[in-house]
This record gives sequence, structure tokens and C-alpha cells, in this order.
Amino acid sequence: MRFQVAIIGAGPSGLLLGQLLNKAGIDSIIVERQSADHVLTRIRAGILEQVTTDLLDEAGVGARMHREGLVHGGFAMLFGNQRHRIDLHKLTDGKNVMVYGQTELTRDLMDARATLGLPTVYEASHVAVHDFDSKQPRVTYEKDGQQVEIQCDFIAGCDGFHGVCRASVPASSMQLFEKVYPFGWLGILSETPPVHDELIYVNSPRGFALCSQRSQSRSRYYLQVPLTDKVEAWSDDAFWQELRLRLDAQGGDALITGPSIEKSIAPLRSFITEPMRFGRLFLAGDAAHIVPPTGAKGLNLAATDVKCLAQAFIAFYGDKTESGIDGYSARCLKRVWRGERFSWWFTQLMHRLPDDSAMGERFQLAELDYLMHSEAGARTIAENYVGLPLDFGD
Ligand code: APR
Ligand code: PHB
Repeated sequence: MRFQVAIIGAGPSGLLLGQLLNKAGIDSIIVERQSADHVLTRIRAGILEQVTTDLLDEAGVGARMHREGLVHGGFAMLFGNQRHRIDLHKLTDGKNVMVYGQTELTRDLMDARATLGLPTVYEASHVAVHDFDSKQPRVTYEKDGQQVEIQCDFIAGCDGFHGVCRASVPASSMQLFEKVYPFGWLGILSETPPVHDELIYVNSPRGFALCSQRSQSRSRYYLQVPLTDKVEAWSDDAFWQELRLRLDAQGGDALITGPSIEKSIAPLRSFITEPMRFGRLFLAGDAAHIVPPTGAKGLNLAATDVKCLAQAFIAFYGDKTESGIDGYSARCLKRVWRGERFSWWFTQLMHRLPDDSAMGERFQLAELDYLMHSEAGARTIAENYVGLPLDFGD
């Protein structure tokens, strides 16, 4: 089998890349380790920056998102028992974010790919990438007991943090940056109306909490928990009780509880791979970098990697120039580091840090108080939250 681009991984990065390449007349195959159903069970953040919604429109998969997604022009910050609003719209000259679950977005991309009849191999085992330091890279995998080989011009490593692509690069060819946070997020999804019409980010003496949502009738809530906590030990009642203790009276009164339809604990990590290109192997999305979810940047950074990579391949095949593929890594990493910095900063501003003293807690509150009462401070949060442009500062 021969394709111009072999994409490893059918998460949002791989699927979106496949869609953009197909629109440009570049053929690609996606090879995924899991089943499509399994990919759709993963629940992740649900905030899309405008750069991401624009890209989904460009890829022709934005229709349901515009129908069902919720446009938010601001969010609440709760600390010291007081609520403040970050007016995204006003502070960023009219920008918003879109609340639309990653699961729904992945489903839209999968449906579009199936409708177009584009090749996707699910449940491929022993996926391996070869010869990416040459002009004839190959991908091999096993499916139904058969060994299959794909020849291609390029390999797109969209296979997430635990994928095979980054793991196939010699350690001496890359530099890895990593910070693992000493707490996790316990998240639940429930078929209940959200506690507030916008998101609430909470810094409470008992730890961070986040009130998010998927629709007018479905809520997503998170609590900061020690990494040693086991999800089985958290009953729904215990979750709601703890959330109430971290909210203000207004939140406590408005909170409607119900059975969880999903409950899990996720660790928090900052992780960056430099560079993001190795010969004819390109990493995109979680394969190259991970952010803690506090700023909801993961999917948005993945989407801009994919935008950049699609442009690079289109320039290669269309204009016969390698400048896009040569510039891919540096162009992405500039935005990645900005997103990583914001996510790290927002995380340490909002969470109880186990080693921190009472003084550290007071510093957090003073910083939050400053940010909410200075327009420059509030704008710093707002412009990072709605997302910095891909080529900001160039
Ligand atoms: N072979 C084939 N596929 C693989 C392999 C492998 N060896 N290893 C992993 N995969 C698949 C996974 O099963 C998964 O479906 O690659 C896919 C990677 O998808 P994601 O982890 O969702 O990563 P990405 O598409 O980059 O999406 C980024 O997901 O984690 C969030 O915050 C992140 O929202 C961001 C988005
Ligand atoms: C979510 O809805 O899952 C969500 C929203 C905002 C975040 C993180 C997660 O910052």
C-alpha cells in the first residue's frame, strides 16, 4: 500500500489532519491501535478557541458544533469567597470560546471521514514506524493476523502521549521537558443542568474546583484531589458534598446533583518534546506535548499543530517547497511554549500546592486580587484563554 501521508492515531489530531489533507487532494491513511468506540469513550476538556473552531469550519466539520456548541463570552473566578467575571468578549475585542466536548468533535470528524470513505484502520496492533530518516519511510502493523506495510512520503505521529512515534526517535535526537504535578483532577459527568451559565474556576482553601458543562442539561465538574486517592473511594455523594464545600453560597444553592455517568481521576502534567520533526516523521498534538487541563489548551494546541502540518504538506506537494516542513517544528513550538506557560501558571495560581506554606496561599490570593482589579491583569488571562494567534509576535 502506498499513501502520501501515513497518520498514526485517530484522536482529534490525526482525524483533523486527515480531513484537511483530503480537502487539499493529498491522500492519507490513518492507523489506530484502538477501536473507534474505544476512542469515543475518552472524555476530555471541552473548550475550543476561535482558531480551532475556524479550522473545524475549514475542514468542513463545524456544522453540528455551531448548532449544539455553547458560545461563552466570559467565565467566573471564585476565590476568597467572592466571584469575579473575566469578560473575554470585552477584554479581547470581541473574542469568545466555544463549549463543545472533545468526544462530540471526535465523532464529527470520524463521521466525516466515514462519509468520504477515507481509509482508516482501527484495532491495528504492533504499529511500527521505519526509515523516517530517509525519503521512503514505512509503517507496519498487524491486523487480523496479517502483517501490513504502508509506504509513504511522510509519517504524521498523532498517536498521543503513549504512542509509538516519539518512542521510536533516538533519545539523543530530542530534548524532553517534563513537570508532573503532585495532585490530580477527579472529574464527573452528570445529566444535570450546569450550576452557572458560564464556567467557574475555584481557588478554595480545600483545593481547586471547576464547574464546566457540555450542554444546558449536562455538567462536567472537577475537584483537585491527592494523587493517592482512588476513584472507587469517591461516591457520587462524597463528590457533591466536597464540591459544595469549595463553592460559594450562591453556587451551593444553585447546584443540582445527580448520578455520575462518568467518573475518573486524571494526573496533571506539563510535557514538551523538542524538536517536533525528525526527518520525515512529524509529531503533532499530545504525541509532542501535554498541558495540565487548567487552561483547556490541549486540544487547541493540537489543532494548531495540525493546521501548521497541513499547510507544510500542502506547500510541499503544491508549491514544491520544503520551507513549511523545515519550519514546522519552530513555528509550532513557539505557540506550544506560550500555551504551556499559561497552563502551568494558571495551574499553580489556582491549586493548593502540597509543599506550599500559608504564605504561598496568601500570595495566590493577592495575585488573584490584583489580576481581577487591574484591567491589564484581567486582559492577560483573557487573551491567553481565548488563545494567542499561531504566529503571534512574528
Ligand atoms: N499505534 C496507533 N495508534 C496509537 C498508538 C499506536 N502505537 N498509540 C496510541 N495511539 C492512538 C490512541 O489510541 C489515540 O486514539 O493515538 C490516538 C491519540 O489520540 P489523543 O491521545 O486524543 O491525542 P491527540 O489526537 O493529539 O489529541 C489531543 O487530546 O489528550 C487530549 O488534551 C489533549 O485535547 C487534546 C487532544
Ligand atoms: C471541561 O469542560 O472538561 C474543561 C473545561 C475547562 C477546563 C478544563 C476542562 O479548563
